[in-house]
Amino acid sequence: MNCKYGAAITGTGSFVPEKIMTNFDLEKIVDTSDEWIVTRTGISQRRIADENTATSDIATVAAAQAMEDAGVDAKDIDLILVATVTPDMAFPSTACVVQKNLQAVNAAAYDLGAGCSGFIYGLATANSFIASGMYKNILVIGAETLSKIINWEDRNTCVLFGDGAGAAVVSRCEPSEGILSVKIGSNGTFDRLITQPAGGSRMPVNCEVIQQKLNTIHMEGSEVFKLAIRTMASVSEQVLGDAGLKVDDMKLVIPHQANKRIIDGIFNRLKVTSEQSYLNLDKYGNTSAASIPLALDEAAKNGVLNKGDNILLVAFGSGLTWGATTVKWVK
Ligand code: UT7
Repeated sequence: MNCKYGAAITGTGSFVPEKIMTNFDLEKIVDTSDEWIVTRTGISQRRIADENTATSDIATVAAAQAMEDAGVDAKDIDLILVATVTPDMAFPSTACVVQKNLQAVNAAAYDLGAGCSGFIYGLATANSFIASGMYKNILVIGAETLSKIINWEDRNTCVLFGDGAGAAVVSRCEPSEGILSVKIGSNGTFDRLITQPAGGSRMPVNCEVIQQKLNTIHMEGSEVFKLAIRTMASVSEQVLGDAGLKVDDMKLVIPHQANKRIIDGIFNRLKVTSEQSYLNLDKYGNTSAASIPLALDEAAKNGVLNKGDNILLVAFGSGLTWGATTVKWVK
């Protein structure tokens, strides 16, 4: 597609709650071990929000950092997208709370529900709004307080997830820069594989639902595992092809940080080297929509990225949903 405007990531930010929960802490709660969690997932610890902290709180901090990094004023933000499965409440949207917190008085705002693929869905949306000429500066935020919807008696899921937020300012740029290719997809026939069954119109919350813990995360991990590797490898190849690039052209590949063995599976298929990978899931676990922007911000702040570098971002999650993008770094 030939467009008049390109869309570039011009600033990033991130925030994680202070409280650390280690695998050893989890050993005291459920029948698990540090050894099992590390070898099966690569996760050593995760961050947990306190009872007074909601998703909008950590989203706001990450977003403010991203705006400062981009040198963009709140009044110049045209749209705020918050990708999350843990909104503050069903409505109003978490994005509107962030809009209020930032005093982004000229911004439209809405939430985006695409599970762990939410940040890539957000980049795809921002790219299209900018390409159309409608908007110049868009805040794309991935933020989650998954600890609030975890069943702390279910060892299959409680060891996997953590809380955090990452944000990017996406701004108008030359068409040859910024987001070079992007693809998003879904398959709702697998909707039961990762779900929070209760709390919506299908199953409103009542005492029985709470007793059965149906308002918490349910996941069929091993089925997700296989689909995640196959799909993330395939969508990565598609966006590389669309951009006319190869894996060797990538300075960094940042996959959704859910499980080290899933990432190894993708990287083996794509032949990504360890120098090209940026991982932080050992510290944060699976932070769903926040995982990619959290890692991207860390990589940028650690000086790993230079102007002109190509990066590949790829995600997979509840829905099922997936997405990938190749981006030329402009900072
Ligand atoms: O972010 C969205 C995408 N989500 C993901 O990508 C997650 C995808 N799935 C996974 O990461 C992995 O499937 C898990 C980490 C969730 C599980 O790893 P697995 O190798 O697929 O293990 P499994 O589910 O096949 O379970 C193997 C065994 C079972 O015991 P039995 O039935 O073989 O006796 C589980 O009960 O491991 C047991 N198990 C545990 N043992 C100790 C499951 N969780 C734990 C645990 N500690 N925390």
